[in-house]
Amino acid sequence: MGERFSVKTKQPFVFSNLAVSLDGKIATTSREFFAIGSPRDLRLLRKLRDEADVILFGAEVLRTFRKACLPLARGRRITNAVLSRTLSGIDPEWPFFNDDRIDRILYVTGKVPERRLRQFQKKAIVVNIDASRPALAILRDLARRKVGRVGVEGGGGIMWEFVKSNLIDEYFVTIVPRILGGVNAPTLVDGKGFTPLEALNLELYRSRRVGSELFLIYRPVPSRGKIHPLLR
Ligand SMILES: NC(=O)c1ccc[n+]([C@@H]2O[C@H](COP(=O)([O-])OP(=O)(O)OC[C@H]3O[C@@H](n4cnc5c(N)ncnc54)[C@H](OP(=O)(O)O)[C@@H]3O)[C@@H](O)[C@H]2O)c1
Repeated sequence: MGERFSVKTKQPFVFSNLAVSLDGKIATTSREFFAIGSPRDLRLLRKLRDEADVILFGAEVLRTFRKACLPLARGRRITNAVLSRTLSGIDPEWPFFNDDRIDRILYVTGKVPERRLRQFQKKAIVVNIDASRPALAILRDLARRKVGRVGVEGGGGIMWEFVKSNLIDEYFVTIVPRILGGVNAPTLVDGKGFTPLEALNLELYRSRRVGSELFLIYRPVPSRGKIHPLLR
């Protein structure tokens, strides 16, 4: 815990951007594709992509969306990167793999059968990474590729990999006026979770209300744990 790329000293800069319901969920229990935010939120999502070199998401997002994640600016080329153990349940014929407006990197921690691997290698760069700290391994690989800015777009599974080592510099969170419920519905950050002493503390950097939606930006503060430094 605690190791992180410093915003000031090392690239890439990492931001996350997700929309959450009032009860902290990012999708329903079925996990089917459902843009929970407003058109304004979707515009923000794409606008933030305009400033990113790489957009990164978990394999479950790819399995539900199956398409390229594009920026707002026409003609702006970004890389879509995906984290998966073995790429199971992912089809190299999906539109995602045949969209020539993006470049693709697949980060895998496990062994992909050779024949399947070759199919993916025709469409994407496939990088084997350390299974113990995948987020750090991804950022190191992207730094080697001279990437300056990475947007992590969820879901909750991949978010945990970044959050557990405090690798996100800015959290863009849109609170949408819906309640989704469901004990098994994904949340902003899932995974194993922190103990009270490990809890990541943040401060509100910016906020904007538009209608019933709240557009928030949070940044981590240096100390961890249950006594929030801003409350002392
Ligand atoms: N509201 C929003 O803003 C928003 C944003 C994004 C997503 N979503 C929704 O959230 C849901 C997906 O979220 P999710 O939490 O279920 O999944 P996710 O984070 O998108 O993807 C989870 C997958 O990432 C891979 N992964 C995670 N940790 C890994 C590790 N340590 N090593 C290797 N691979 C790892 C695994 O892929 P493999 O299974 O291939 O091994 C895992 O199944 C979808 O319903 C999507 O629509 C909503």
